Formats: sequence, structure tokens, C-alpha cells
Amino acid sequence: MRVACVGAGVIGGGWAAYFLARGFDVVAWDPAPDAEARLRRVVDAAWPALTELGLDEGADRSRLSVAGSLAEACADAAFVQESAPEDLELKRRLLAELVDATADDVVIASSTSGFPMSDMATEALDPSRLVVGHPFNPPYLIPLVEVVGGTATDPDVVAHAADFYRSIGKSVIEMDREVPGFVANRLQEALWREALHMVANGDATVEQIDASITEGPGLRWPVHGPCLTFHLAGGEGGMAHMLDHFGPSLLAPWTRLDAPELTDELRDAMVKGTGEEAGTRSFADLVAERDRAVIATRRAVENARAPRTG
Ligand SMILES: NC(=O)c1ccc[n+]([C@@H]2O[C@H](COP(=O)([O-])OP(=O)(O)OC[C@H]3O[C@@H](n4cnc5c(N)ncnc54)[C@H](O)[C@@H]3O)[C@@H](O)[C@H]2O)c1
Repeated sequence: MRVACVGAGVIGGGWAAYFLARGFDVVAWDPAPDAEARLRRVVDAAWPALTELGLDEGADRSRLSVAGSLAEACADAAFVQESAPEDLELKRRLLAELVDATADDVVIASSTSGFPMSDMATEALDPSRLVVGHPFNPPYLIPLVEVVGGTATDPDVVAHAADFYRSIGKSVIEMDREVPGFVANRLQEALWREALHMVANGDATVEQIDASITEGPGLRWPVHGPCLTFHLAGGEGGMAHMLDHFGPSLLAPWTRLDAPELTDELRDAMVKGTGEEAGTRSFADLVAERDRAVIATRRAVENARAPRTG
């Protein structure tokens, strides 16, 4: 099977690496002059983690090719993963071109972080084959893909995309309605807005914010997620006690959820803070560190899970 990765940056490159590891032919298309070199660097950086997790039969980096045009990339593709920049007008034009360039049974999935497909599909002649398949960085390591169609998407296409991702080892959340930011990015964005507010107000440093998660609640989330975590916070009384006990805190001024203004000062503080936190670790060092830790975490959680009965 051949998969086309259209847009081959951080996410498109990560998808390409994952599809190669599953034993597919992958053809990429990206208009940037340096795209092929960048793509091959992303795939090479991902390969140790993918090898550690296990390559499927036939998996080989030599099965990656870079097309000279969009039409060439789409010619024999059975599935298209679009990962072009998060720009609504660009996505509208590109998805319309992809519909024209592919056979009429090919599903085209967009990696968009938050645009509803109904807003992106407006220029496509046949929007029924367009679906959101939203991954998390890096797509070769984080299992979750959120799948949701637009108003004009054929429900069978949504089901087909979800089945396809499951068949290649992804964990799928199949949504029956369009919600901006889907599920995980809405949650992630709430945390991110609070973090930016805290830096803008001088409440905490970038490093303190990161440590508050990695040394704190972040350790519980790979196992139970925010809801089951708070179920345990209620002791044997569980979620009911937790809500009765801490319900009044919901009214406390603990959140500034409207986005802060991204001033130059805030931008500089975030860039400086993350630079200091990274220290002497290069981008490649941090990618390798993250990949080793995610694999170790996934394995540790798998081994620690209590059996589920019923
Ligand atoms: N970075 C993340 O953490 C993340 C996570 C999930 C989803 N996404 C989504 O994935 C998509 C890609 O984001 P990214 O972070 O990989 O961005 P990126 O900037 O790393 O890559 C985008 C690539 O698209 C290419 N491109 C530009 N115009 C194009 C066109 N007309 N056709 C095809 N390719 C084109 C660029 O040359 C670039 O290589 C976005 O929709 C983004 O919202 C990003």
C-alpha cells in the first residue's frame, strides 16, 4: 500500500516515518526547496524509536520517495495524510487540489490542530472524502489520533479512516461532532493559556511551570487522565466526594482562561526561558531524550496496569 504525505515538516515527516515503519510505501510532497533534506532528517531521527518499538514486515526507509508534484504524489496513493501549515485559506485550496488529484475512493485526512473540516472543505468538488485525522507530536510515537468529519463528509469515510488508523496501531478517538480543538487540544490549550498568563504576570518562570507538571500531575496522567485522577483524589468516596468537597473551589479565581495578549515581551520571555531550560541540550538531544522517555513510560504503564474485568 502507498500513502501520500502532503506537507513534510514536523508532523508530515513524523507521519512518513510511522507509515514507513508499518511497511508501507510513502511518497511525500512539499514545495519547500529544503523539504527533502529536512524530511529525511526527521525520518532518520525517528527510526531508532520505531525500531525499538518494532518494525513491521517490509519496513524500510528506502521505501520513502519525494514527488516532484502534488499530482505525482497522489497518483497511486491509497490514503493521503495532509500536514501543510495551519492556514485556513491554504488548507481550503490544498484539500480541493487533493480531491481533484486522487481517485474517487481515496480518503484524505488532515492533520489540522483545530480547524473544523466543514470550514476547510468549502472549495472541494467532492468533500465527502475529507476527514480530520489529528495526531500529536511526534506522530510516530504518540498513539492518539482524533478522527472527525465535516458536515459533508461521508460517515463511512470517518469510519474507514478510524479503522485504518486502528489497523496500524493508533489509539483513535472518533468524534461525532465538530468541536474546535477537538478533545485533547482544548484541554492542552487551557493549560497553555494558564502557563502564558503566569509568565506574563511574573507568577512563575518557564522552568517552574514545566517542573510543576513533569514532577507533579504529569506523572499521573499517562495512567489515569484528569478525571480518574480526581476520582482517586476523593479517597474511597471517589468522584462524588471529590466534587462535594472541592466543588466550591470551582468558583475560586484559579483560572484566566481567555488567551493572554502575545506581546513581544511575553514572546521573548518564553523563548528565553525555554532556551535556558534546554541548556546545552541540542534539538536532536531533546528529541532523542523525549523519544526514550515516551517509550519507557508507555512500557512502564503497560506493565503496571491492573487487569480490567467486566
Ligand atoms: N507541530 C505540532 O505539534 C502539531 C501537532 C498536531 C498537528 N499539527 C498540525 O500539522 C500541520 C503541519 O504542522 P507542522 O507543525 O508539521 O508544520 P511545519 O511548518 O513543520 O510543516 C509544514 C510543511 O508544509 C509545507 N507546505 C507549505 N505549503 C504547502 C503546500 N501548499 N502544500 C504542501 N505542503 C506545504 C512546508 O514547506 C512545511 O514543510 C498543521 O495543520 C498543524 O496544525 C501540528
